[in-house]
Amino acid sequence: MRGSLERPRRLRRLTVVGGLAAALALGAVSATAGVVQAQGLPGQALTAGTSTTTSALLPDYDNEIVTRFDSANSVEHIRHLAVNIGPRLNGTPQEREGAEYIGGILESYGFKVSYQTWGPVSTKRVAKVTSPNADLPGGPNWQMAASTSGKFTGDNGVEGQVVDAKTGQSAADFPSDTEGKIVLVDYSTTASVRNTAVANAVSRGAIAVILAYPTGNSAPPSFTLTTPQPNLPVIGGGSAHSAWIRGLLAKGPLTLRIATNEYVNPMGTNVLAVRHAVGDPTGTKAPIVMVGAHIDSVLGAPGAHDDASGNGVSLEIARVLGKYPLDKELRIAGFGGEEGGLLGAREYVKTLTAEEKARFVGEWQMDMVGTPYEPARLWALTPNGQSNFVVEEAYKAADRVGFEGLRNCRLGQSDHQAFYDAGIPASLFIWLDYRPPAVCGSSGGSYVTEPEYHRPTDTMDNISPERLQITLDVVGGAVAHNALNAVKVSAVSDGGQPLAGAPVRADCGDGERNVGMTGTDGRLDAVFPHATCDFTVVVDGATVVERGVSISGDRELEVTVDLTKPTISLTKPADGAVFTLGAAEIVSYRCEDNLSGVAACTGTVPDGGALDTSTVGFHEFAVNATDKAGNSADQKVTYQVVYPWHAYFPETMDGKAGSAVPIKFSLGGDRGTGVIAPGYPASQQVTCDTGEATGAAAPTATPGNSKLSYGGGQYNYVWKTEKSWSGTCRKFELKLDDGSSHFTTIRLK
Ligand code: BES
Ligand code: ZN
Repeated sequence: MRGSLERPRRLRRLTVVGGLAAALALGAVSATAGVVQAQGLPGQALTAGTSTTTSALLPDYDNEIVTRFDSANSVEHIRHLAVNIGPRLNGTPQEREGAEYIGGILESYGFKVSYQTWGPVSTKRVAKVTSPNADLPGGPNWQMAASTSGKFTGDNGVEGQVVDAKTGQSAADFPSDTEGKIVLVDYSTTASVRNTAVANAVSRGAIAVILAYPTGNSAPPSFTLTTPQPNLPVIGGGSAHSAWIRGLLAKGPLTLRIATNEYVNPMGTNVLAVRHAVGDPTGTKAPIVMVGAHIDSVLGAPGAHDDASGNGVSLEIARVLGKYPLDKELRIAGFGGEEGGLLGAREYVKTLTAEEKARFVGEWQMDMVGTPYEPARLWALTPNGQSNFVVEEAYKAADRVGFEGLRNCRLGQSDHQAFYDAGIPASLFIWLDYRPPAVCGSSGGSYVTEPEYHRPTDTMDNISPERLQITLDVVGGAVAHNALNAVKVSAVSDGGQPLAGAPVRADCGDGERNVGMTGTDGRLDAVFPHATCDFTVVVDGATVVERGVSISGDRELEVTVDLTKPTISLTKPADGAVFTLGAAEIVSYRCEDNLSGVAACTGTVPDGGALDTSTVGFHEFAVNATDKAGNSADQKVTYQVVYPWHAYFPETMDGKAGSAVPIKFSLGGDRGTGVIAPGYPASQQVTCDTGEATGAAAPTATPGNSKLSYGGGQYNYVWKTEKSWSGTCRKFELKLDDGSSHFTTIRLK
């Protein structure tokens, strides 16, 4: 019956703006059409804020759940209550019908539903006015006040055409065909004027008389007549009724049916729906999250806004939350008799045991939650004007959707008062033109209601789907947040320090989500409509995954993030080590990580492998280690591979300036004649006693431009000294292409 209630996910940022800002904001909305689907009323526009959707991750559940709330569903519930059922005066069958409609819907959402009948309450005398053929303005079920001076017809009533007899004071007021008709006359506050009008109608053969306020904005009056009229129903209509009847008569004949009933000391009804927490099927220990609204309306009023709207929002919250395995007990109530003095709510609260009261998280009461009346704003009102948990949570939910219009002040006058009196945190959520005092608390403010309040005109026209949506997002968002399974995630480093600003992700089987960032205390409160999730915390590139975390009972999850790099101990090659060309050397190193453990330990050559000594010169050797958290460490060393060297010349020698000095050496074989480093050999003057350099080094010369030669397993180089060096000492340096240098110092005569 109620298919396809979900609407596509959409991005919403709600802000109250006014004037020019509103116009600009509305421009912004249309400019991003397709992304933002928001409508605003004048002076109360919904605007698109900056989108933060940059990653492929899904939003957190707080954000996702509000996108599931759809005020269009609330509107249909309101329509059923206010139009199909109509006015729901306390103690009448319509209050009961309202309760049963709400109960039936909640049952279909999986709630356990019960009805609390209480009373008796004061006798109610009402007229149900319908039409067999006309489309009545304001809804098909008008309600007027049945006078005790008239007849109570029972449900069948009387049916006839309506004639307008104006004031009903003179013969001229009555049409000639009044006989057998329903007579409409102006209601007068003067008893004798009323009495005359009814007596005149009766004498002309009226089958029923409607006395309705001809002007102003009045509710249907209850009155008696000095001359009782026990043979026909006499009923009081509001000013809207007289205007509507006269409007219809202007277009042609109008037939109405009037059924008057006296409900003597009837009973009132509450409907209560419970959804027990997972893990507490009998409801003895789980925290209770409660939502309430009142079913009844005042005499004559369809009560679309007051308070079918509250139930419409409750039911939509119940629909969305009813799908999840939650560790909180959800209670949804429709109270009867609110307009009679909070009767139903007080009866309900009386049934709560001390243990039950102690389990309450709070009660979110919704009464008049979306009129299009422009000056109305969303208020969270408490009997003492102080904020409380329920109010605070609504503010937080408003914040999450970017709605800045919520305010808190003082008012009773609805069912939240009954919970407040029982010590349960409660607040009234209401769209009202409330005017706060300088300080909310010690005194209350004043207010102006919309003109339709408590009037027959409180119809579907007094409902704003946009404002209902804001109520859903704010109140529903707060209720959802408190009903969901909560986890306090705390991220700490391996050193025990709280990790602030750490992004936390969760995968509960329906996609990976960005659930937020830890605060300065390293903590994050997150909520889930699931009992088991995998958590991932990322800090500075280190990742921790906690799999299969079970979430219930507001559990705490401490995630230790390994921020310490693995260590590397490299034994061979050591930094600066020198190896002989072709030597067999075994590489040796190890990686260690005491926290998450080593994930990889990789060197230029694997541990235990042969070091590369196949070429002379300097070589790099690197080891890279990573741990399972993703931390990585590097170590790089340099080693040198040299020829096997043997000098066939002494470290010091004597010579004659200008002579040739043979320099012989071996490199373990024939390595070719290109083994000397560029610019070498070189020599420089040094002091003979200390060996300290006194001149610049210069490349050496050879006799006849001879070159390095190889033969008989030896290299031979001939150094030609200069005559001018006579009486000095010189240091000779032979630097090879393996990076090694070899010296001799010569004293020249
Ligand atoms: N929906 C109203 C509450 C209300 C509060 C209306 C503030 C307008 C302004 C509620 O149904 C109601 O009418 N309450 C009564 C008091 C109740 C104790 C009978 C009222 O405000 O007169
Ligand atoms: Zn109300």
